[in-house]
Amino acid sequence: MAGQVVDYLSGVLAALPDAPLADLSYPHDVLADPDLRRPPPEHGRPLAELLAVVDRAARPGLNPSSPGYFAFIPGSGLVSAGLADLVADVLNRYTGMAAPAPGLVALEADVLRWLADGLGLPATAGGLLTSGGSIATLSALITARHDRLGEDFLSGTLYATDQVHHAVVKAARLAGFPTGAVRIVPTAGGLHDGGLHMDVGALAAAVAADRAAGRTPFCVVGSAGTTNTGTVDPLPAIADLCAREGLWFHVDGAYGGAFALTERGSARLRGIERADSVVLDPHKGLFLPFGTGALLVRDVGALRAAHSGDDEAGYLHDLDELELPDFAALGPELTRDTRGLRLWLPLHLHGVAAFRDALDEKLDLAAAAYASLRDVDGLTLLAPPELSTIAFRCSGPGTPEELDARTAELLRRVDAEGRVFLASTRVRGRRLGRLCVLNHRTDRARLDEAVSALRRHARDLAGP
Ligand SMILES: Cc1ncc(COP(=O)(O)O)c(C=O)c1O
Repeated sequence: MAGQVVDYLSGVLAALPDAPLADLSYPHDVLADPDLRRPPPEHGRPLAELLAVVDRAARPGLNPSSPGYFAFIPGSGLVSAGLADLVADVLNRYTGMAAPAPGLVALEADVLRWLADGLGLPATAGGLLTSGGSIATLSALITARHDRLGEDFLSGTLYATDQVHHAVVKAARLAGFPTGAVRIVPTAGGLHDGGLHMDVGALAAAVAADRAAGRTPFCVVGSAGTTNTGTVDPLPAIADLCAREGLWFHVDGAYGGAFALTERGSARLRGIERADSVVLDPHKGLFLPFGTGALLVRDVGALRAAHSGDDEAGYLHDLDELELPDFAALGPELTRDTRGLRLWLPLHLHGVAAFRDALDEKLDLAAAAYASLRDVDGLTLLAPPELSTIAFRCSGPGTPEELDARTAELLRRVDAEGRVFLASTRVRGRRLGRLCVLNHRTDRARLDEAVSALRRHARDLAGP
């Protein structure tokens, strides 16, 4: 069976550079395929037939593994991590607690230590791997809530800009906060002057106003790379304010945090080492397949206190306390996959330098895209990239609505060529195109294809 799967996947990977990037037709005829949509049979079918069904099922939609994928935050799908998953799943050990699989828990704990060290967090830091950034954010906000507000938390307020990922707002809701608890802090400038950074003076004023009104400010969320534009908030100034005001400082590094591995990235992310909690998404910045986020908390005791009360189940008491973490005590899940291997194996197999170099290359590629696009007639770039994302908008004559439509048409034409795929976002009501470089397979040649398509179509749309 494994041989058949490997043969199938080898073919998939060989075809990947030229495989279709996006098929967004809906309803897609694949969905009407009776072979695809039927209940499990009473008696099994050959694996080869089923792999063919899976292959067809994977066709409609987007292909984020492609080197030409620059939309949203690309997810690469490092193959060695997939192999680690296979090993982990076939071994099938229980890693929710240390005692049943201390060696495998140690490998995962060591990866988390390495991540915490890479961010500059102290020895007291610890955390866990999650299924993604959203769940990691939920645990972070629950920890902040528990640590700073206790059980009577309904007057609590937390602060972020309007550029924060919606996972933060969702996590606040799931953590029990009423609508309105998330205060939107103004940014320091307008759309076109790179002004999407948190205005820390405005943050201080908002905190003071809330205190005066009887609310309980408890947490500030800084972005280490927003999804929209890759903007990094002024983390040192936010850290200063949090220290002064006794607020929990959370950093959303789901997109940008991994760049701390590089020299340039760590300079841009300065201040992240002062966070009380940081979310990373290895399924973004460390090129892993979807399904791996990470939460690191400065004081792992706060994480444990928030997630494990006195309610430990009797049937777990036979398991000895080890020096190793019980991940079940640090997060919402009791049983989980052996997540650590999907980080441990690639990091040890390829070496840290391979990851650092790949991230450095993404910074270079985004800088190159910016340099080649900034003088194009009919195109305005928002700001030089702080990480690996550039945002742009059609410019020239026309109302803002017409320029929105022209920007959408630009992306439609670029995507229609089939070599690259870009998507847009809306910021302050205006449509922006985005080019986010974060796939380990994306190289200079593919970036140049994206840039040249953008230049050509932007000029055409600008007219004579
Ligand atoms: C900045 C940021 N934060 C949080 C998230 C949520 O992470 P996930 O999709 O892994 O749940 C994302 C990504 O989608 C993101 O880009």
